[in-house]
Amino acid sequence: MMAILATSSSFLIAFMILMSSELILQISATNLTCDPIYPPIKVPVSATDVELLQFAVNLEFLEAEFFLWGALGYGLDKVAPELPNGGPSPIGAQKANLDNLTRNIVTMFAYEEVGHLRALNLTVGLFPRPLLNLSSANFAKIFDEASGYSLVPPFDPYDDSLKYLLASYVIPYMGLVGYVGANPLLIGYDSKALLAGLLGVESGQDAVIRTYLFERAEEEVAPYNITVAEFTTRISELRNRLAGCGIKDKGIIVPPQLGAENRTETNVLSANSYSVSYSRTPAEILRVVYGTGNEHTPGGFYPQGGNGKIAKGYLNKSHY
Ligand SMILES: *[C@@H]1O[C@H](CO)[C@@H](O)[C@H](O)[C@H]1NC(C)=O
Ligand SMILES: *[C@@H]1O[C@H](CO)[C@@H](O)[C@H](O)[C@H]1NC(C)=O
Ligand SMILES: *[C@@H]1O[C@H](CO)[C@@H](O)[C@H](O)[C@H]1NC(C)=O
Ligand SMILES: *[C@@H]1O[C@H](CO)[C@@H](O)[C@H](O)[C@H]1NC(C)=O
Ligand SMILES: *[C@@H]1O[C@H](CO)[C@@H](O)[C@H](O)[C@H]1NC(C)=O
Ligand SMILES: *[C@@H]1O[C@H](CO)[C@@H](O)[C@H](O)[C@H]1NC(C)=O
Ligand SMILES: *[C@@H]1O[C@H](CO)[C@@H](O)[C@H](O)[C@H]1NC(C)=O
Repeated sequence: MMAILATSSSFLIAFMILMSSELILQISATNLTCDPIYPPIKVPVSATDVELLQFAVNLEFLEAEFFLWGALGYGLDKVAPELPNGGPSPIGAQKANLDNLTRNIVTMFAYEEVGHLRALNLTVGLFPRPLLNLSSANFAKIFDEASGYSLVPPFDPYDDSLKYLLASYVIPYMGLVGYVGANPLLIGYDSKALLAGLLGVESGQDAVIRTYLFERAEEEVAPYNITVAEFTTRISELRNRLAGCGIKDKGIIVPPQLGAENRTETNVLSANSYSVSYSRTPAEILRVVYGTGNEHTPGGFYPQGGNGKIAKGYLNKSHY
């Protein structure tokens, strides 16, 4: 090993000496640049881009508050009080009883969401934080609806790391499919650049959560007789029912015909038959996060509905 390293490093040094004069000439002649190639459509952010990206702000507020509170026991009002823009504080958010590994992961997720809000503010501006219901009771209701009966005792996401990560399974995935859905509709190059960057991190978060749950797939979630894998399947099925647009969401273990290339039961990532991420429209997302199956009827995480032109438009009674 050392011999190989020594040989390769002396080769490298000889190579560098040979090349250096020529390289320096080339670099100074061309000036390295880090700017992207100028895009063919010369619009940074279009008016419709603003609406689409602002819609995502609703989800980013939800994620930021859930992760900040869960990991640290306080939220945006303390961490970045300018970002909520005067919107009301979330209801029922609390510090979760997390082990160190989970708390470290969730702390990072939390600050990533704060960064996302700042990036969205710089590109499209923020509206006030909508009222968010992050109470144990709201999560308990979602898990009851997913299970098809009332869990006893009620599901409490703040109880322990496993329950918190199961509750987290409910959230970044909606951001992911929402960004995939918004992508083909964006026009401006700044909008597209931001969306790709946000999508990358949202899907990374979803992957971390799903891998964590996959490692524990067969474990029963105490004190229930339901395994981690069953919970993920039930939550995914609930979201498919609420959104009403077919299967766009799958648990961490699936029948092979729903796995990658129709072959795997392991479903660490949720994707279509080409293993391409599913996409959802704002209306589909609202039906799920309102928990009402109706984008005109607020509830669930957003007792008074989302903010911004798209969500407000669905709430506007004079439109239907
Ligand atoms: C490289 O950058 C320098 C300093 O900005 C500038 O004077 C020079 O013209 C540039 N050269 C090329 C080839 O663009
Ligand atoms: C949004 O960004 C602007 C700068 O473009 C800044 O002045 C403003 O304070 C930011 N707003 C929030 C809520 O962070
Ligand atoms: C968890 O982290 C805290 C503070 O960083 C430390 O005091 C404690 O020993 C850690 N616990 C475990 C089980 O590693
Ligand atoms: C939060 O959700 C719980 C469970 O659905 C509900 O009982 C409570 O009234 C909600 N809070 C608000 C302010 O909507
Ligand atoms: C799990 O518990 C529920 C409620 O107590 C019960 O209806 C169900 O049959 C149980 N399922 C299994 C697999 O034991
Ligand atoms: C997988 O199944 C779907 C239908 O469920 C089908 O459309 C698709 O062609 C199949 N893909 C492969 C690689 O067999
Ligand atoms: C609701 O729709 C009416 C008619 O289109 C419009 O005048 C009003 O500004 C809308 N309100 C909101 C909050 O979007």
